[in-house]
Amino acid sequence: MNKKSDSLPYFDTIFENIKNQDSVLAQAFSNHVHWGYWPEPAAAKLSLESFLKAADQLSQQHFQAASITDNMKILDTGCGFGGTLSLLNHQYRNLELHGLNIDSRQIERAKSKVVPIEGSKNSIEFKIGNACSLDYPDSSFDVVLAIECIFHFPSRQQYFKEVHRVLKPGGRLVISDVVAYGPTLVLLILMCLPYLSLMKKFYGDLGPAVTMSSYKKLANKTGLKILELRDITAGTLPTYKFLEKCTTSTGRQAEEIKRLYRFQHLISRLKLNRYMVLSFQKMA
Ligand SMILES: C[S@@+](CC[C@H](N)C(=O)[O-])C[C@H]1O[C@@H](n2cnc3c(N)ncnc32)[C@H](O)[C@@H]1O
Repeated sequence: MNKKSDSLPYFDTIFENIKNQDSVLAQAFSNHVHWGYWPEPAAAKLSLESFLKAADQLSQQHFQAASITDNMKILDTGCGFGGTLSLLNHQYRNLELHGLNIDSRQIERAKSKVVPIEGSKNSIEFKIGNACSLDYPDSSFDVVLAIECIFHFPSRQQYFKEVHRVLKPGGRLVISDVVAYGPTLVLLILMCLPYLSLMKKFYGDLGPAVTMSSYKKLANKTGLKILELRDITAGTLPTYKFLEKCTTSTGRQAEEIKRLYRFQHLISRLKLNRYMVLSFQKMA
């Protein structure tokens, strides 16, 4: 049974929608619960099919940054419904895959959906737990992933420390995060003020705004070397239009969430907030 703090409000909505199989939202987030990435955003179609492909593409951006190959041991922290591990399971062989999530309902669903592909020699294990307190041995993983979830973790610093401990020397951490552009941070904070309670209502607890310089300090402090800081904001922008389009319900709640999507689209389009894929390496 989850503690209240382990269940995010938008996952409660997704679980409600899953009961109603026809819902576009349930289908959009049945596998991955993250934004889409379109390599050519200007040509993006706002269909369910296009979004599902784009959501796979977002995971692929992380795989590239992690240089994933066959024969690796990989941990996906904040693994949601296991969509990322499912893709890895289909694409590579002889992987030892581990998924961790704080929400027991998500882990239950991931276990029922994601099993090793026959003949792949992959193994898959899902576990309930907090990403800031990893119950895995030291120096055991080639790659650790955190796709669109680090902003929910209790502390980025504690998470980096834990990942440093469980990575093998030379192993990689690849995360995605929404990172504020330092020179316009104050403007961003002022613009966000009227939306803070809506954000909390729909997304739950989100940490304070973070900038690239805070990531550089964090990497230095925790012994991880920065390999790549990839800004993929432009490729994620159609997500907001898609989500607004598939919010077909009416009433106050629907209007609020649509307003929030429009605001997130605006601050991302203005590049005040950037969708970044960040990769780090544990020094040998
Ligand atoms: C936006 S979802 C991303 C899910 C998944 N990574 C994906 O891409 O489909 C954020 C996830 O972070 C998980 N999460 C939040 N806090 C966590 C924590 N402290 N430890 C582990 N998982 C956590 C949530 O339960 C949720 O599954």
